[in-house]
Amino acid sequence: MQMQWLALVICFYAGVASARTEEDQQTSSASGVSNSLPEQCFYRHPIDCPTSDSRCSCKRITLANVPEGNAALCCNTDQQSLEDGLSCIGFQHSNISYVHIRNATLDVFNVSEVRWRMLKSLAITDGKINRLRGQFRMMTPIQCLNLSNNELREVENNSLTRLVQLTTLDLSYNKLTYLPALNTMNGREFWLDISGTNKLSCHDVYHYINKTGEKQITFNRENETVCSSMATWHWFNTTEQVPLSQVLYLSLLQTECPKGDTWQCQCDIRRLDIIEGKPPTHAVSVDCSGMQLTELPEKLPQNTIALNISYNNITVLDDLSTNPRYEDLREFYADYNNISSINKLEGSKFLDNYAILSLRYNKIKVLPTYILSPSAHHKNFLSSRNLVRLGGNKLHCDCNTAKHLKAWLQTRILDSDEVMCENVKEKVVDLEPSKMCVYPGDWTDYIYYIIATEVILLIGLIAKVSYDYWVFKTAGYLPWPANKMPKLPCDWLFET
Ligand SMILES: *[C@@H]1O[C@H](CO)[C@@H](O)[C@H](O)[C@H]1NC(C)=O
Ligand SMILES: *[C@@H]1O[C@H](CO)[C@@H](O)[C@H](O)[C@H]1NC(C)=O
Ligand SMILES: *[C@@H]1O[C@H](CO)[C@@H](O)[C@H](O)[C@H]1NC(C)=O
Ligand SMILES: *[C@@H]1O[C@H](CO)[C@@H](O)[C@H](O)[C@H]1NC(C)=O
Ligand SMILES: *[C@@H]1O[C@H](CO)[C@@H](O)[C@H](O)[C@H]1NC(C)=O
Ligand SMILES: *[C@@H]1O[C@H](CO)[C@@H](O)[C@H](O)[C@H]1NC(C)=O
Ligand SMILES: *[C@@H]1O[C@H](CO)[C@@H](O)[C@H](O)[C@H]1NC(C)=O
Ligand SMILES: *[C@@H]1O[C@H](CO)[C@@H](O)[C@H](O)[C@H]1NC(C)=O
Ligand SMILES: *[C@@H]1O[C@H](CO)[C@@H](O)[C@H](O)[C@H]1NC(C)=O
Ligand SMILES: *[C@@H]1O[C@H](CO)[C@@H](O)[C@H](O)[C@H]1NC(C)=O
Ligand SMILES: *[C@@H]1O[C@H](CO)[C@@H](O)[C@H](O)[C@H]1NC(C)=O
Repeated sequence: MQMQWLALVICFYAGVASARTEEDQQTSSASGVSNSLPEQCFYRHPIDCPTSDSRCSCKRITLANVPEGNAALCCNTDQQSLEDGLSCIGFQHSNISYVHIRNATLDVFNVSEVRWRMLKSLAITDGKINRLRGQFRMMTPIQCLNLSNNELREVENNSLTRLVQLTTLDLSYNKLTYLPALNTMNGREFWLDISGTNKLSCHDVYHYINKTGEKQITFNRENETVCSSMATWHWFNTTEQVPLSQVLYLSLLQTECPKGDTWQCQCDIRRLDIIEGKPPTHAVSVDCSGMQLTELPEKLPQNTIALNISYNNITVLDDLSTNPRYEDLREFYADYNNISSINKLEGSKFLDNYAILSLRYNKIKVLPTYILSPSAHHKNFLSSRNLVRLGGNKLHCDCNTAKHLKAWLQTRILDSDEVMCENVKEKVVDLEPSKMCVYPGDWTDYIYYIIATEVILLIGLIAKVSYDYWVFKTAGYLPWPANKMPKLPCDWLFET
C-alpha cells in the first residue's frame, strides 16, 4: 500500500518535472543560454530550482538537442535531502547524464558511488562541501566537472584519474592547496579554472603544468588567477600571491632554456619588470655551468640578463658580440674555461652597459685594456657598474705590465690581487717596475764596466807615459814601444 503511494508520488513529481521542462526550454532559449557542451557544464540558475514548497529537492530536466539529454537539478540540500531528492526523481533508473547540484551542504561527496558512473557532466556548485572522496569509476564518461564555489579543501589526488574524457574542470573559488591529478593519457586539451582558489601552491601548479605539458592546459580567467608562493620556493620570494601568468611563464621558460642531448641549462626568473602600460617582462637568468660545453649556447630565452657558463670548455666569446640573443645580457660569468682572448668583445653591445664580466681562471695572457675601458661616448656612466673579474689568469708580464697594467688592474678589476704572471712567479699587483724594467739597468751596468775599463786603461796610459818620461829624463832613451813609434809632427815639443 505504502509502495504504491510512493510510486504515485514519484509519478506525480515526474509529471511536474516534465511540465516544467518545457518552461525551462522556453526560458533558456529566451535568455540565449546554450546547452552546448563541454565548454560549460550543465548548469541552472537558482530560479530554476524546485520550488521551496515541493518536497523533492531535485527535479528532472530534458535537454533539447542533446542526445541522452536527461538532466537533474538539485538545490539547497544536505546529505539526507540529497538522497531523498535523487530517489524521488528515480535517479538510479532514468539514464540521467547531466547533473547540477546547487547549494549543497555536505561534509563529504563520495565520487566512488556507482550512481555517478553514467554521468557526462557533473556540477556541484555554490554550496559547502569540505571533501571530495573516492575515485570516479572506470569508464565514467564525464567530460565536464564543475566544483566551483564550495569551500572545498580536499580532493583525493587520484579522484579524477580515471576520467579519460574529462576536458573541462572548474575548481574555482575553493580552498584547495594542491591539485588532483588528471588523466592525460590521450593527449587531449584541458580547460581549467582555478581562479579564486588563492591558497593553491604555485609550486604545485608549476609541477602540475610541467607534468601535463603547458600546451595541454588552457586556464580560464588566467589574469584573475593567483597562487600562493611558499617562502622556500626561491623563484618568487617577494610576493605571497603570485599571478598565474608568472607560473606559466616560468614553465614556458623551461622549454626555451638551452639544452642539448647530454646537457640542460637551468633558467630562472630573476625579477619581474613592470613598466606601466606594457605587459610585465621577466628578467631571466640562465645557468649552464659545468656542462662540458665547448661553445656558448646558441639560443637564450628572451630577456636573459645573466648567463653563468662557468666550469666549461669555452674558448671564444664571439656570441657575446654577434648573437642577437645575447643583447640583453648584463652579467656574464665564464670562470674556469679555456678563453684566451677578449679581443672579440671590442665594440660589442655587451660592453656598452654590462654590470659584471667575470672571466676568472681562464687562459688570458694579453689584456688590451682599451677594450675594457669606458669608451669616450659613454663618459657619463658609472664605472663602478662595469665590474670585471679576471683573477686566476696568467698574463704575460713585462715592464709595461708593471708600470701601467698593474695600476689599471687595481682601479678596474675587482680581484686584481689574484691576477698572475705567466712568465714570472708573481702576482701582477706585486710586480716592481724597478725589477721588471731591467733593460735600462743592464745597460747602465755595462756602461760602468766600460767606464771602469777606460779609467783603468787611462790610468795605465798615464802611468806608462809618466814612466817613459822618467826613464827618458834619467836614462836618456825611450822604452818600448815609444822608441818604435814614427816621428810625429808634434814631437818637437818634447825634443827640448
Ligand atoms: C561552474 O559554476 C560556476 C558557478 O559557481 C559558474 O559560474 C561557472 O560558469 C561554471 N563553470 C562551468 C565550466 O560550467
Ligand atoms: C542554501 O541551502 C540552505 C539549506 O540547506 C538554505 O538555508 C539557504 O538559504 C540556501 N542558500 C541559498 C543562497 O539559496
Ligand atoms: C536507459 O538506457 C538504456 C540503454 O541506453 C535503455 O535500454 C533503457 O531502457 C533506458 N532506461 C530508461 C528508464 O530510459
Ligand atoms: C564511497 O562509496 C564507495 C562505494 O559505494 C564505498 O565503498 C566507500 O566506502 C565510500 N567512501 C566513503 C568515504 O564514504
Ligand atoms: C596528494 O598530493 C599532495 C600534494 O601534491 C600531497 O601533499 C599529498 O600527500 C598527496 N596525498 C596522497 C594521498 O597521495
Ligand atoms: C619538468 O618535467 C620534466 C619531465 O617531464 C622533468 O625532467 C623536469 O625536472 C621537470 N621540471 C621541473 C622544474 O619540475
Ligand atoms: C588578460 O591578459 C591578456 C594579456 O596580458 C590581455 O590581453 C587580456 O585582455 C587580459 N584579460 C583581462 C580580462 O584582463
Ligand atoms: C629567496 O630567498 C632565499 C633565502 O631566503 C635566497 O637564498 C634566494 O636568493 C632568494 N631568491 C631571490 C630571487 O630573491
Ligand atoms: C674540458 O675538456 C677536456 C678534454 O676535452 C676534459 O678532460 C675536461 O674535463 C673538460 N672540462 C670541463 C670543465 O668540461
Ligand atoms: C656559476 O656557477 C658556478 C657553478 O655552479 C657557481 O659556483 C657560481 O656561484 C655561479 N655564479 C653565479 C654568479 O651564480
Ligand atoms: C684549451 O686551450 C688550449 C689552447 O689555448 C688548447 O691547447 C687546449 O687543448 C684547450 N683545452 C680544452 C680542453 O679545450
